[in-house]
Amino acid sequence: MLECKGINTFYGPAHILFDLSIQVSEGQMVCLLGRNGVGKSTTLKSIMGLAPVASGSINFDGVDITGWPAFKIARSGLGYVPEERRIFAELSVEDNLEVAERGGSPWSRQAVYDLFPPLLEFRHRNGGHLSGGQQQMLTIARTLVGNPRLLLIDEPTEGLSPIVVRSLEDMIRDLKAKGQTMLLAAQDVKFSLSVADYIYVMDRGRIVYEAERSKAQEQAAEIRRLMSV
Ligand SMILES: Nc1ncnc2c1ncn2[C@@H]1O[C@H](COP(=O)(O)OP(=O)(O)OP(=O)(O)O)[C@@H](O)[C@H]1O
Ligand SMILES: [Mg+2]
Repeated sequence: MLECKGINTFYGPAHILFDLSIQVSEGQMVCLLGRNGVGKSTTLKSIMGLAPVASGSINFDGVDITGWPAFKIARSGLGYVPEERRIFAELSVEDNLEVAERGGSPWSRQAVYDLFPPLLEFRHRNGGHLSGGQQQMLTIARTLVGNPRLLLIDEPTEGLSPIVVRSLEDMIRDLKAKGQTMLLAAQDVKFSLSVADYIYVMDRGRIVYEAERSKAQEQAAEIRRLMSV
């Protein structure tokens, strides 16, 4: 479904991604692991047309989207949940979802309320008055109601308390079980190995390891080592 081949991305003179190649197949959940600053966010931004890709190609559903403007990439069926939560603080949960809704299936408003029960409970509350975890749920839910064929999520549990992290992880597991194709940037090896179909590990702008879940589980120690060097 998504195939990135040999991507090189620069911020000004700084070379950030080096010949990066990753793939996501339909129905898969793929995790992109790596410690702080290795280029996970830049990878997702490169896919979304939000970071300048100097060379390499990005193919989505058989279409070469390399160099497309971000709005057109989003419209082609890629949904992006950035690190910083993007909600309308002055709008209610319900209105936040309504403005993002694009119709079609499977993600109706009801379906995202089923996935994130706290959003149903607080549907009349303003986005700005939600807790951090609820805001993250709303950010994901807003993207989902746009019915992306592929969802990119950047470190959704960062900065949340352990108990909130666990419930959000359960919801992401649920999202996968419902068949949503996803590429998740993460630092949590344990969670990623328990849920992803395929794992990539990045270090300093490069993919340094990749494997299917079962193999990655056997090599968990190696993955942890790669993430700590
Ligand atoms: N706008 C920018 N201009 C210049 N350098 C940047 C910019 N954004 C990120 N970088 C640099 O690019 C590198 C990769 O950053 P990136 O945010 O992609 O990493 P990350 O793996 O997502 O890290 P984190 O865990 O902190 O989110 C870092 O060295 C960072 O300092
Ligand atoms: Mg990041």
